[in-house]
Parts: sequence; C-alpha cells; structure tokens
Amino acid sequence: MFKQNLTSALDIVNRANSNEKAVVATPTMLTPQEQMLLYLLAKEYYSGEGAIFDAGICLGGCTESFARGLAARATLPSVSPIIHAYELGIADEDYVTQFIQNSFGETRHKGDSFVDIIQKNLDSMPCKERIQFFPGDICEKPYPEKIEIMFLDVCKLQNINFVMQKLFSRLIPGKSIVIQQDYVHAWHPYIHTTMGYLSEYFEPIGSTWYSTISFILKKAIPDDILGIDVYNEYSVDQLESYIKKYYSYFNNQQRNHLETTRAFFLYQKGEFERSYSLLNQLQCSATHWDFKHTSDYLCKKMGFPPFELIDQQHETEVSCDADTNKSTGSIQTLKNYIKQIPFVGKLLTAAWRALKKK
Ligand SMILES: C[S@@+](CC[C@H](N)C(=O)[O-])C[C@H]1O[C@@H](n2cnc3c(N)ncnc32)[C@H](O)[C@@H]1O
Repeated sequence: MFKQNLTSALDIVNRANSNEKAVVATPTMLTPQEQMLLYLLAKEYYSGEGAIFDAGICLGGCTESFARGLAARATLPSVSPIIHAYELGIADEDYVTQFIQNSFGETRHKGDSFVDIIQKNLDSMPCKERIQFFPGDICEKPYPEKIEIMFLDVCKLQNINFVMQKLFSRLIPGKSIVIQQDYVHAWHPYIHTTMGYLSEYFEPIGSTWYSTISFILKKAIPDDILGIDVYNEYSVDQLESYIKKYYSYFNNQQRNHLETTRAFFLYQKGEFERSYSLLNQLQCSATHWDFKHTSDYLCKKMGFPPFELIDQQHETEVSCDADTNKSTGSIQTLKNYIKQIPFVGKLLTAAWRALKKK
C-alpha cells in the first residue's frame, strides 16, 4: 500500500511542477505549482481516511486549491468537515498587512483582524460546507483525530513547529502526506531539524517550485520521539546534520538556499563567526531570491559588514556541495533559475534581451 501511495504522490509532484497557471482566484502567496500540488492531492490522492489539515491560510489561497480539487472529484468522501483551515487572522506581520493592501487595496494596521476577509473568501469557495475555519492561534485550537494531508505554512516560530511535530502522531502510516511550505526558505531552520530528526519515518516525495517539499509517512512515530524539542535540546553538530539530511534531493540553487538556512541556524545558535563565514562562501552564488535580504538581516544582527549585491558580471553560480562545501559554478544555472520564476523570470529575460540589443 505504501509503495502505491508513494508512486501516486511522486506522480502528483511531477505534474504539479509542470503547471504554470494559477489554480485559484483568491490572492495567495503560493506559486502556481504549489497550488496545483494541493489541488491534485485533494482531487486524486485524498481518500477520506483522515482530514485535510490546512495550516496558515492567510486569505485562503491554499484552502481554495484544496477545495477546487475536492470539487473536481467524481465523488466526495462522506466525512465532514474535510478541510480544517487554521489562521491567526490578525495582521501582526508586515508581510501580511502588505499582502492585504496589495491584494484588496484595503489598509489593515498591525494588530487588526482580517477574519472578515477570510470568511468572505471561504464563503465563495466550492465545497464550502466541507471547510471548517478555526480563526486564532493554531496552538490553542482543536485538531482532527486523523490527518491524511497536512499542509504546513504556519511554522513561523519554533513553538508552533513543535506543536505541529507533536500532531504527527495523528498521521496515517503509509498514507499521510506532510507538505512543508517553508522548506526552501532561510528563516525557519527548526523545520529542517524536525524533518531531519524524523528521517527514519518520512520519505521525501520531492520539491515543488518554489519553496515546498513534501514527505510521506512510512511508519508510525512513537510519542516519546515526537515529544522531544530537538531544536532546543540537541547539540549544534547534531542539528546541522539534520539540516543537511535531504541535500541530495535538491538542485544546486535550492541547496545554496538551504545553506543560507544553515547560516540562519548558526546565527540563532550564537555561532556568529561560522554563520558569517558560510554567508561569505555563498555570496557569489546570490541567485536565491532572499540571500540579500537574509544576509543583510543576519549581518546587522551579528555586527558584521553587509555583502554587496552581486552585479551582472558576477552571474556565476557557486554551488556548495552538501558534503564537502566545495564550490562549483555555471552561468547556465542562473539562467535556468531566472526562467523558472513565473512572470518575474519572463520580465527579467525580456529586460536582459532589451539591454543586450542596446
Ligand atoms: C505565509 S502565510 C500563509 C499563506 C497562505 N498559505 C496562502 O496560501 O497564501 C502564513 C500565515 O500563517 C499565519 N499564522 C502565523 N502564526 C499563526 C498562528 N499561531 N496560528 C495561526 N496562524 C498563524 C499568519 O497570520 C499568515 O497569514
């Protein structure tokens, strides 16, 4: 059964990655590929054995991806609700207030509720009667007894990540999929240490452009394993090995991005010299979109001079080998990278061609 589920999930990830069109009408932070992943999982993979756990929905784009997938099925499992959707609903971060402003032209100040906007969006979705919305802090909400598909776009702090880790006891062995949306992202290294720590129990299914990686649960995880807060209790060496656990599954650009995550981790653990030295190694490979943003933040926090932006002449990609950290590079990789970013890639390519003509 596990093999069959794995094959089906691998096929879904592949097909999602070749999608370039938006699935949903609701404003979302997800790429078209990530939207398609959720859509296909709800349409083709979901069996009704457990719930779809949708955590950190913001305005509901991920929820709509799942809902559209459910609506496209010939039959729906009789369970209700199917989608358990969680969102704080308070605009307490700049990226949330800006997103609301950009999407709706509505000003919500820090601390304002935006539950009304979410509810309005949910009310217009297909299969809305199968969606239950839990506004407020996810750490204090009720959870479904069994979770079949677990979409995590909420692990913005280690305490939330740890609550989610403990919920892995509700996953179905051989069946459940965990979708970590913040994996190819530098700021949440505890997600990587959690998944590395649990590598005996999870099989990676693959990454979905841009920052998602999904896993399938191979076997049940004992409660005592899930009860350990490894990020706060384990040594730096051990945690670094967890961060590197899945490097072989990623291409060079993504791996560089994950190395930035490791630099973020070293900063959080007070290893400033090592963090800065790793950033220094990575700076010539600043092809990942948030290197500048992340390194500026880290350098300021650690009291080091910031790195300059890489100019066009330095379009060489330096890729860190997972084991040796040796560098290799090619300009082609950067071009491929730019091509892969929907819309932005096209704009940059057009601008580059126009400049060359001049
Ligand atoms: C990156 S956004 C999610 C984007 C969304 N998945 C989409 O499809 O566009 C992360 C969301 O997590 C929410 N969040 C952060 N902490 C939370 C908490 N403790 N409980 C519930 N939601 C939380 C934030 O309010 C934010 O809207």
